[in-house]
Amino acid sequence: MPLYHIWTIGCQMNKAESERLCSLFEQIGYQPAASIEEADLIILNSCVIRQSAENKVVSKIGTLKSLKKNNPGLKIALTGCLVDPDTDRLQKRFPVVDYFFKAGGMPPWIDKRLTANIIPSKPAVSTFINIIQGCNNFCSYCIVPYRRGREKSRTVDEIVCEAKTLVERGAKELILVGQNVDSYGNDLPDKPDLAALLEDINKIDGLKRLRFLTNHPKDMSDRLIDAIATLDKVCEEINLPAQAGDDQILNAMRRGYTSAQYRNLVKRIRARVPDIAISTDIIVGFPGETEEQFKASVDLLKELRFDNTHIAAYSARTGTIASREYKDNVPPEVKKERVAIVEKLQGEIAAEINAGMLDKTVEVLVEGKKQGKWHGRSRRGKLVFFNNKNDLLGQVVKIKIEKASSWSLQGSLVDM
Ligand code: SAH
Ligand code: SF4
Ligand code: F3S
Repeated sequence: MPLYHIWTIGCQMNKAESERLCSLFEQIGYQPAASIEEADLIILNSCVIRQSAENKVVSKIGTLKSLKKNNPGLKIALTGCLVDPDTDRLQKRFPVVDYFFKAGGMPPWIDKRLTANIIPSKPAVSTFINIIQGCNNFCSYCIVPYRRGREKSRTVDEIVCEAKTLVERGAKELILVGQNVDSYGNDLPDKPDLAALLEDINKIDGLKRLRFLTNHPKDMSDRLIDAIATLDKVCEEINLPAQAGDDQILNAMRRGYTSAQYRNLVKRIRARVPDIAISTDIIVGFPGETEEQFKASVDLLKELRFDNTHIAAYSARTGTIASREYKDNVPPEVKKERVAIVEKLQGEIAAEINAGMLDKTVEVLVEGKKQGKWHGRSRRGKLVFFNNKNDLLGQVVKIKIEKASSWSLQGSLVDM
């Protein structure tokens, strides 16, 4: 039997797409290779969101040359956001790669009938479903719309049908993914929205939890906030990237909201769904960002106290509006310093929020075992570890929290 290996970096979209590729290869008779060296087919699922991600992909490709020498039958395919329409140029840049296919696409050498609708036969306890491809927002710094194209929603029927099948096959939690899930349905004939989709999926018997990401502050609707408040399976956790706290920077980023509007939205969400966990993304060192403008981001984080902050130093991406219009003029050491300041602050905030969980009991959906310990997440998305000798995979258990850090919680099972 031929062996395959998939290497993945980047966001949840890539992870979701890699899961689908795994099930495709297994359905057509491939088996996972024990290591990349043993594979007959290597798929690289790439990310180019920042130069550092692109560098990782390029160096990975570099390591594959020697593998081809040892195994002349080896085929290598590159997908993900490094793949642009100019495959001739890519082929010249990466002669070792045999096939290129765009992010979210399917391997071109495999019959289309086989790739039409692949659903994993053994999904994970928590499984991603892609509900919308692409992005129409063109935030000035971002490469995604150029690599993933315009928004294209899958139909409600298709998604619900896939969700049912995944649950029948063992999934307990579904995570709906898209670059901007708030745009879901805008391009479909009867314009369903994410709230309506959640309502339909919430009805599936056997499903325990439902999450979604990523939200866009300019598009998040009251209907969606209501859906989080009222639908029992929808978890109290959202990802709401702020990107910056200064209005001039937000405007140059083309985010479509002011920091006052963002603050207001967070207040509305928290008023309607008390205790909701909110995480955010922040970019530091955007072109022209002054000390004062950076401080506005710090103040936003201090004031709103997010559960988590994904922090990135601005990286100019060729082809984007920002890379054409602005000079990447914040020195690397200043960016580094700003990243460190935000990381430290967020670490402190998360530690305080998590310390507030001590002695409380949370419901954990058990996702797996690592180094002898069970792990899973609370409804608010906190990673929880505990010991137990029984097989609890896929069950929702009550855990009393005994230890807390910035990153995770530890506790023990409460008798039910
Ligand atoms: N669609 C989501 C996430 C997109 S990419 C959103 O709208 O927020 C994930 C994160 O990468 C972004 O939220 C942003 O913080 C970061 N990012 C995107 N482009 C970047 C760039 N050129 N430099 C640094 N960080 C970037
Ligand atoms: Fe990029 Fe903005 Fe689209 Fe997010 S919303 S993927 S940051 S262009
Ligand atoms: Fe990276 Fe593409 Fe996701 S650039 S972050 S893999 S959309």
